[in-house]
Amino acid sequence: MEPIVLLLFLLLLLLSFSTARDTITPSNPLADNETLVSATGTFALGFFNPPNSDNRYIGLWYNQISDHTILWVANRASPLVNSTGVLSVTKDGRLTITSQNSTVVWTSPNSTVELTSPIAQLLENGNLVVMQDGDTSGNYGWQGFNYLTDTLIPGMKLGVDLTTGINRTLVAWASENDPSPGPYHGFMDIRGDPDIYFCRDSTPIWRSGAWDGTHLSGIPDMSTYRGFQFNFVNNASEVVYFYSVINRSYISRLLVNSTGFAQRALWLPDANQWNFFWNAPKDLCDDIGQCGPYGLCDANDSPLCSCLQGFDPKNPSNWNLRDGHDGCKRRTPLDCKNGTDGFVTVSNVKLPQSDNCTVDMNLNLDQCRRLCLGNCSCTAYASANVSGGGSGCIIWIGNLFDIRNFVGSGQDLYVRLAAADLDVSSGKTQSTIVAVAVSLVAAALLLTCVGCFLWRRKKKRRVLLGAMTSFNEKSNHEPGDLDLPIFDFATIAASIDYFSDENKLGEGGFGPVYKGTLEDNQEIAVKRLAKTSIQGLEEFKNEIVLIAKLQHRNLVRLLGCCIQGEERMLIYEYMPNRSLDAFLFEKERAALLDWKMRHQIIVGIARGLLYLHQDSRFRIIHRDLKASNILLDEDMNPKISDFGMARIFGGDETDFNTRKVVGTGYMSPEYAMDGIFSVKSDVFSFGVLVLEIISGKKNRGVYAIPPHINLVAHAWSLWKEGKSLQLVDESMGYSFPTNEALRCIKLGLLCVQEHPEDRPLMSSVVLMLGSDLASLPQPKQPGFAARRGPFEVDTSSSNQDSCTLNEISVSMFQPR
Ligand SMILES: *[C@@H]1O[C@H](CO)[C@@H](O)[C@H](O)[C@H]1NC(C)=O
Ligand SMILES: *[C@@H]1O[C@H](CO)[C@@H](O)[C@H](O)[C@H]1NC(C)=O
Ligand SMILES: *[C@@H]1O[C@H](CO)[C@@H](O)[C@H](O)[C@H]1NC(C)=O
Ligand SMILES: *[C@@H]1O[C@H](CO)[C@@H](O)[C@H](O)[C@H]1NC(C)=O
Ligand SMILES: *[C@@H]1O[C@H](CO)[C@@H](O)[C@H](O)[C@H]1NC(C)=O
Ligand SMILES: *[C@@H]1O[C@H](CO)[C@@H](O)[C@H](O)[C@H]1NC(C)=O
Ligand SMILES: *[C@@H]1O[C@H](CO)[C@@H](O)[C@H](O)[C@H]1NC(C)=O
Ligand SMILES: *[C@@H]1O[C@H](CO)[C@@H](O)[C@H](O)[C@H]1NC(C)=O
Ligand SMILES: *[C@@H]1O[C@H](CO)[C@@H](O)[C@H](O)[C@H]1NC(C)=O
Ligand SMILES: *[C@@H]1O[C@H](CO)[C@@H](O)[C@H](O)[C@H]1NC(C)=O
Ligand SMILES: *[C@@H]1O[C@H](CO)[C@@H](O)[C@H](O)[C@H]1NC(C)=O
Ligand SMILES: *[C@@H]1O[C@H](CO)[C@@H](O)[C@H](O)[C@H]1NC(C)=O
Repeated sequence: MEPIVLLLFLLLLLLSFSTARDTITPSNPLADNETLVSATGTFALGFFNPPNSDNRYIGLWYNQISDHTILWVANRASPLVNSTGVLSVTKDGRLTITSQNSTVVWTSPNSTVELTSPIAQLLENGNLVVMQDGDTSGNYGWQGFNYLTDTLIPGMKLGVDLTTGINRTLVAWASENDPSPGPYHGFMDIRGDPDIYFCRDSTPIWRSGAWDGTHLSGIPDMSTYRGFQFNFVNNASEVVYFYSVINRSYISRLLVNSTGFAQRALWLPDANQWNFFWNAPKDLCDDIGQCGPYGLCDANDSPLCSCLQGFDPKNPSNWNLRDGHDGCKRRTPLDCKNGTDGFVTVSNVKLPQSDNCTVDMNLNLDQCRRLCLGNCSCTAYASANVSGGGSGCIIWIGNLFDIRNFVGSGQDLYVRLAAADLDVSSGKTQSTIVAVAVSLVAAALLLTCVGCFLWRRKKKRRVLLGAMTSFNEKSNHEPGDLDLPIFDFATIAASIDYFSDENKLGEGGFGPVYKGTLEDNQEIAVKRLAKTSIQGLEEFKNEIVLIAKLQHRNLVRLLGCCIQGEERMLIYEYMPNRSLDAFLFEKERAALLDWKMRHQIIVGIARGLLYLHQDSRFRIIHRDLKASNILLDEDMNPKISDFGMARIFGGDETDFNTRKVVGTGYMSPEYAMDGIFSVKSDVFSFGVLVLEIISGKKNRGVYAIPPHINLVAHAWSLWKEGKSLQLVDESMGYSFPTNEALRCIKLGLLCVQEHPEDRPLMSSVVLMLGSDLASLPQPKQPGFAARRGPFEVDTSSSNQDSCTLNEISVSMFQPR
């Protein structure tokens, strides 16, 4: 019995496959219970009822996914009511939908080409077309992609075909269950510099901002959508926006939803659902009128609105009540005739409304400036195409509306001002900045003097127990009071198979590391210290005890040591996931590190380092922080290793300058050049590490863009251009929390500032990792961004005693 059922089933399956077709002919219309399926099965088209509705429509959906999301509707405004239907193509090439009682409810417009033998076909990209049977030239009499519904999928174009006059717009469904046209719609505004508008009836809600050559100026995070390619064509035949997915297996859509949002989504095959990863409008600053003419909206600021330099609130009473809609007015009228006007640069903005703009792609920025100066009604200018260093010219005539600020991205806008308003010191904000700067300088001077004083007093009492650890002599321990197990040499040697190469994990800073298993099955990592050590036995033990007392979840734990004659070994807990560099810099394994993990690693390292610097009983400077010294446990928690081991090599104070391992860690400028280290040199290394973790690139990796010789320089130049998100490792794919990524990049840059005093302490770093992007100070040019030398320099200069240079170092030599 059963085999027969199975056979029948298979037969049915076969039959249903053979009946799936992608073409309708006049003699073979599409019945209500049938679907058209595109050639390789990507799309399906057929009749459907929206949930809880008696209305029946012809719709298009992705065939391969289960949820039948409707992408396109033929007869959205003229449904079949309480009736089944038939889709047919007439002999003159028009599609018609006919109801049970033979009423034609919908018909497509007349064919634009003469068709003697018309067919309708569902193409592989989802386009339903009417054409001459057998024609492969793409000469369509009608096509569905010219009449979009609410969704844009790859292959569809949003915008105007200037030769045929067809205006392809996205119009939202009236409600979730009603495909008829609703009030929300998106369209291409071709006036001035074209951009996409999103409106409710005729009221603009949001605009995309003009295309700047790489992305839409109001959607800076567009550059992070790795899986996509965005296109914008503006020429004599069309002004259109469209996109494609680079990986064909990605299923994606952009839609205007019935409650008034534009959304972008990707299908998650594993979760079997759509991932809506972007929407607009997003925040108050997306509201076009929020800050009125010449107002600048900053969503991370309170109040939201401020006036551009040289402008004051037009209606101060409303402005003070936080209503910015009236905007701002010019403080000093422009002096066009006398030619004394100038421009102020407003950085990182969404370009203002561009309906009345003039665009000339053949001018450069300098010519653009002159053009603007020469026309009395010109109020601002900007580059029309930022890619490749900037070209083209946009000129604004009249008021500037809808300018908003982005952090770390956005474009430069040059706003015309009278000479009087260009004067930077005249503004209120300027004087505050000066005051702050003055007090900062004073504070720094004071600190330096105090530091200098302390330095000189402490100098004699200072005990430097080696290059990486330093603590006060008071914390010395009797070797007798160890809680540190001393392992038996024979046991350890056996556990690592007598130093066999098979057990070797790698070569650490001070000798090879082996993996071993103790009798109780505990896995250990054994570091065999090179025999060149000149340190005495008691000193060695003493220091090991101190290090063993450092316990923190983000530090690798020292389990004990082993001493036999000249032989010295350190026994650590074993980390199954090895070191961070093995993940970060290897393409396949890097893909395993998603954003959440990377962030967790950054936070973990910061906490471990904070503990070393501040919270442990001793102040410890690691001095050799780098990806290979970060080990990962089974849950990918980071653990700092190799701290405090230089002692074994240590000699006296001068020694630690000359004998250090040059070039292994990420050295700060003052360390590389002058051999001076402090907690701030660790902060520098931490900053480099953060940038490496985000970008997945080695600091000294090779870059396609020649002027950038290292990661820090590369990160800085992207930051300056507002393209920071391009730094993010491509293996993380298209979607990660933009704000968090920008915050980490900004923090990374703050940590690699040239001057130690500009770098935050680890305690601030830990705070900043959880705070608002805008509350972080602006980074300046980092150390080494423009120079090649110091990374390669082998320093041998001695520690300098100058109090200014050492001012930061002072604190770390003090007992707690
Ligand atoms: C569709 O329904 C008709 C009758 O209404 C039936 O003859 C035909 O076999 C059905 N086709 C499919 C594919 O189910
Ligand atoms: C046919 O059905 C439509 C609705 O589907 C209805 O409006 C129309 O009156 C019907 N015509 C006839 C002749 O029954
Ligand atoms: C459709 O049919 C349902 C019940 O079958 C009925 O309640 C409803 O009034 C009908 N709608 C129209 C427009 O005829
Ligand atoms: C469509 O074509 C028919 C003849 O085939 C003609 O009568 C009709 O006016 C045309 N409609 C339009 C809108 O051109
Ligand atoms: C396209 O349609 C939109 C909305 O319907 C309209 O505002 C716009 O002016 C149209 N563009 C052209 C060029 O007709
Ligand atoms: C406009 O651009 C499109 C797409 O790049 C191209 O196919 C078309 O030929 C261009 N038209 C003109 C007039 O340059
Ligand atoms: C495309 O995506 C699929 C599924 O995510 C993946 O298996 C495949 O490797 C990707 N192909 C390319 C070329 O990236
Ligand atoms: C429309 O999009 C917004 C923003 O993503 C979302 O909150 C809302 O639920 C969506 N509306 C519908 C009907 O899906
Ligand atoms: C232009 O210059 C003339 C003479 O230098 C001066 O009198 C006039 O006030 C200036 N105009 C403006 C608008 O500043
Ligand atoms: C463009 O010019 C028109 C007519 O002068 C004006 O009504 C409109 O407000 C201007 N648009 C912008 C954004 O300045
Ligand atoms: C200024 O530029 C606008 C827009 O391009 C143009 O209409 C106007 O004629 C120009 N005025 C002068 C004096 O050149
Ligand atoms: C923008 O500039 C880039 C680099 O110079 C160039 O390749 C591209 O064609 C330009 N785009 C337009 C629209 O001019």
